[in-house]
Amino acid sequence: MGRPKITVVGAGNVGGTTAQRLAEKDAYDVVLVDIAEGMPQGKALDISQAGPVCGYSTRVVGTNGYDETAGSSVAVITSGIPRKPGMSRDELLATNVKIVKSVVTELVSRSPDIILILVTNPLDAMVHVAGRVSGLPKSRIIGMGGILDSARMRSFIAAELNVPGPDVQAMVLGGHGDTMVPLPRYTTVKGKPVSDLMSKSELDAIIQRTRNGGAEIVGLLKTGSAFYAPSASAVDMVEAICKNQKRVMPCSVLCEGEYGLKNVIVGVPVRIGRNGVEEIVEYDLAVDERAALEASAHAVRELCAAVDRLMT
Ligand code: NAI
Ligand code: 2OP
Repeated sequence: MGRPKITVVGAGNVGGTTAQRLAEKDAYDVVLVDIAEGMPQGKALDISQAGPVCGYSTRVVGTNGYDETAGSSVAVITSGIPRKPGMSRDELLATNVKIVKSVVTELVSRSPDIILILVTNPLDAMVHVAGRVSGLPKSRIIGMGGILDSARMRSFIAAELNVPGPDVQAMVLGGHGDTMVPLPRYTTVKGKPVSDLMSKSELDAIIQRTRNGGAEIVGLLKTGSAFYAPSASAVDMVEAICKNQKRVMPCSVLCEGEYGLKNVIVGVPVRIGRNGVEEIVEYDLAVDERAALEASAHAVRELCAAVDRLMT
């Protein structure tokens, strides 16, 4: 059997870096799609030419069409416009709904068993768009937001405590936006509760910085948004699927009763394996944590209602 084919749509900052990270795994065939003429082809060539130096032989194809995507196991969808300084993720809505709708239709018509990883913002709303147009089961439509938000929290804690980032575990649930729900009770450093290692005010500052993590980077870059940690997070999901790892990761999926949430897309812990979402894992949440998750779900629901108005 050949290598699984992974399509990355959008060859900009997140997509190009995702393709590069996937190529470096030396375990997949990669197809990079963008509407900009020559750009995905140029990036694919450049990534291929790094192979002899870095020690991989991944086949990377760049294209402006979808024929090369046929038979993809997974697609990472990053096509769309990113935030500019001062712009909220929600302002991206109308443009990105149209883009994601057409991309999903093209992908699914050539790869009916594909698993979609949505990255384009506003993230949870784009998962809703994919659900509406793809005809795929909900287990095959997964949004990347919580892994990134958790990684930011982990990295801030690691810096504060001067410990290695991988030793810190954290879980951020909720929508990928201002209402995200960091869970300090489920945050540990080598198994020790973080609340034993720093003061409440230190932890509160980290939670606030996590919530503002995307905007902090937009403010610094000025011409775009984060892409190194986002691409790493998307590739982590691809690996969990293709290696059937069955790891529990916070991802945006459709909840149908889990956490008491009905028919709403929100970031929750999910077990990811060969078939996509194998299970939504229900953590025991305190009253305030549950209320925060419900408030976040409410915000996503309003955004999805706006999507529905745009799509009718
Ligand atoms: P970018 O502007 O560097 O790249 C976007 C690419 O999409 C461009 O190359 C553009 O030509 C392409 N594109 C536009 N319409 C297309 C279409 N119809 N078909 C194929 N390609 C198309 O933007 P960047 O930084 O890569 O961000 C991409 C998206 O990901 C944005 O919406 C951004 O907000 C989002 N994002 C989401 C994150 C998350 O945690 N979910 C994290 C980081 C970014
Ligand atoms: C981020 O959190 C822009 O959603 C993106 O960096």
